[in-house]
Amino acid sequence: MWYPLLLLLHLSCAIVFVGAVAFEVLILDALHQTFDRTTMERIEQAVMQRARRVMPWVVGTLYASGVAMFTVRCAGLRCLHTHFGWLLLTKVTLALAVLAVFVRAVQARGGRIDPCSFRRTHHIVLALMVGIVFLAKAMFYL
Ligand code: HEM
Repeated sequence: MWYPLLLLLHLSCAIVFVGAVAFEVLILDALHQTFDRTTMERIEQAVMQRARRVMPWVVGTLYASGVAMFTVRCAGLRCLHTHFGWLLLTKVTLALAVLAVFVRAVQARGGRIDPCSFRRTHHIVLALMVGIVFLAKAMFYL
């Protein structure tokens, strides 16, 4: 009974997390053509400040529900001998890479954000997330 709820929680948090990064890459980035560098730095800092408040809860719930479902789906670590297990492990590895980038961004509190590294990091994270979502479905169908 609780597994579908965990899955719903996981999927909802994934949508918010992936959506936030997609917004930054696909919408916010385009504003560089409209505003000057100083204005963009201020906008990006305001976005990051807000994200630092909200996203830790979303990301914490996403990873906690992921770990709980992993123990069920993988029966401890027993699934790692299977094709499903390898795809799941690859998904988790990519998710850990995303987590490392996220923790670094949250810790960069107060420091000025270099717009180039801001953009580069978000492009990399979005690419990793596309891989994670692909693997999340591929592990059941491939
Ligand atoms: C950036 C981080 C993550 C994202 C964006 C993400 C995204 C997703 C998505 C989209 C699904 C498919 C849900 C569905 O369509 O029903 C899924 C399933 C799953 N995820 Fe994650 N996930 C992340 C991190 C993790 C972590 C860290 C773990 C485990 C340690 C994990 C374990 C799982 C498991 C076991 C499933 C399969 C659930 C099932 O269908 O029974 N995920 N994830």
